[in-house]
Amino acid sequence: MPIRIAPSILSADLARLDDEVRRVLEGGADQIHVDVMDGRFVPNLTFGAPVVQSLRRHTDALLDCHLMVEDPERYIEPFAKAGAGILTIHAEATRHLERHLTAIREAGMRPGVAINPATPLSAIEEVAGAVDLVLIMTVNPGFGGQQFWEPGTDKVRRARALLDATGSAAMLQVDGGVTRETIGRLAAAGADTFVAGNAIYGSPDPAAEVRTLRQRATEAAEGIRSA
Ligand code: DX5
Ligand code: ZN
Repeated sequence: MPIRIAPSILSADLARLDDEVRRVLEGGADQIHVDVMDGRFVPNLTFGAPVVQSLRRHTDALLDCHLMVEDPERYIEPFAKAGAGILTIHAEATRHLERHLTAIREAGMRPGVAINPATPLSAIEEVAGAVDLVLIMTVNPGFGGQQFWEPGTDKVRRARALLDATGSAAMLQVDGGVTRETIGRLAAAGADTFVAGNAIYGSPDPAAEVRTLRQRATEAAEGIRSA
């Protein structure tokens, strides 16, 4: 599985979004992670489909939209129209997960499913084979720059086994506290897609940080393969 780096614009200078996105794409970022928060599912507010629509006018990059909102089905159509490429919804945010994941695909986007630290992997067992991305949260969502949740590494290992068992080629994404220090163990556990906000945008050279994170993840993943 190729390593993918997904900078989160939550930690960018939002008044200079166009430049901030360009900087990480210069460093080889594979997708731009867009954290959408409604002040209900998580205790913070960010941005919605209009920002995605504006970004779409400035870049061809894959826009990886992470909905941390209640009743995410309300936003499937607006995000499809705005140009989202991946739309990830939380298993905790809806009673009809399978229906909405199907609706995301029918709307022309790639469906992703996310779970919070306290949500067992079994919550997504039945849909894991039908999504294009599984997101294991390694912080309680809501804010950038939080401390990495250590048990997440083992959860990633079990998620990798679940995806392998279903023969799925879905991206296995981790989000929260991904840094130079934590990325290696996550890659060794089988994650292939890494969201990083603070690590990248808190760095004086975000493009170089994207390259460093990719290198650390690649080395760790190759170490496992050759072991
Ligand atoms: C957290 C968001 C993350 C956040 C990660 O609620 O889903 O995508 O931007 O930020 P860092 O990488 O700083 O932990
Ligand atoms: Zn996120």
